[in-house]
Amino acid sequence: MNGKQDKKIGIPVFRAPEGMRAYALSQRAAKQAIGLVPTMGALHEGHLSLIRRSAAENGRTVVSIFVNPIQFDDPRDFARYPQQLESDAAAAGKAGADAVYAPSPAVMYPEGFSTFVDMAGISETLCGSVREAHFRGVCTVVTKLFHAALPDRAYFGQKDAQQLAVVRKMAKELDFPVEVKGCETVREPDGLAMSSRNARLADKERIAARCLYRALCEAETLSRAGERDAARLREAMQAVIGAEPPARIEYIEIVDPVTFESLETAFPGALAALAVYIGDVRLIDNLTL
Ligand code: PAJ
Repeated sequence: MNGKQDKKIGIPVFRAPEGMRAYALSQRAAKQAIGLVPTMGALHEGHLSLIRRSAAENGRTVVSIFVNPIQFDDPRDFARYPQQLESDAAAAGKAGADAVYAPSPAVMYPEGFSTFVDMAGISETLCGSVREAHFRGVCTVVTKLFHAALPDRAYFGQKDAQQLAVVRKMAKELDFPVEVKGCETVREPDGLAMSSRNARLADKERIAARCLYRALCEAETLSRAGERDAARLREAMQAVIGAEPPARIEYIEIVDPVTFESLETAFPGALAALAVYIGDVRLIDNLTL
C-alpha cells in the first residue's frame, strides 16, 4: 500500500509525506479543494460523520490514520490503542474519503526528532493540565499532517472541544491557510459520546458510562433554570458521577468556550466539560450550556 490503489480498499493509501504531498498538489492543480480529517483510526460513526461532512464540502477528502505516540501520557494507553488500517481505510473510503494518509511512527518521528509546536495558556487547563505534553503532541502532529495533505479545510469534533479550540488558535496564530471546522458530537442512543475507547468498557462499565452525559444534562437543566453559580453546577455533576461506583472523576469544570479558563459564574454558551475514569478507561465529554 504505497499510494497505490489497493483493490480491497479502493482508494490510495500514502505512507510518507512526499507521496501524500504529490497527490495533494496534483488535486489542487486540478482545482479540487481538499478537506482533511485527522484521526487515530479505530473509526466509528463520530469519525465517519466528519468524513461525510468533508466529502460534502470539498472536491477531495483525505483521512489521516496515525496513532500519535507523542500525545499519549500513558505508554500503556498508546500500546493498547487499536490498529486496524485496512478496515479503517475501507470504511473511510465508503464514507466518501478519496485518499488515506497513514505514515508510520518512524516516518513521522525519525531518530533525533526534536522540533515541537507548543502553545502557552489554553493548553494548560483541563486535559492540558493533567496530561502535560498532550497538546504539544497534538499541535506538532497536526502541523505535520497539514504540511503533508495541504488541506483547504480540516475537520475536528466538538467532542474534543479543547483540542478543537487549540487547533483553531494554532492555525490562526501560525498563519496556516486552513479553515478549521468544528463538527457536532455523535452519541450512542443512550447519550454516551462515541469513542474508540468505549470498546474497552466491560458490560457493567458501559452502563455506568452513561453518567457522563447524564451529568452534563443535569448541568444544562440547572443552567436553563437560571443557575449561574459554577460551584453548584459542578456539585450537581459530581453527585451524578459519584453515584456510579466504577466512576472516578479526573476533572469537572465550567469553562469559557474560547479560553478554557474555569468560570465562577456560568453564562449561556459556557462549556461544561469533564474527564472521568470508568474502571481504567478514561472518557471525556462536554456540553454547551
Ligand atoms: P481521534 O480520537 O481518532 O479523533 C479524530 C477526530 O474525530 C477528532 O477531531 C475527534 O474530536 C473526532 N471525534 C471523536 N469522537 C467523536 C464523536 N463521538 N463525535 C464527533 N467527532 C468525534 O482526536 C484525535 O484522534 C487526535 O488527537 C488527532 C486530532 C487525530 C491528532 O492525533
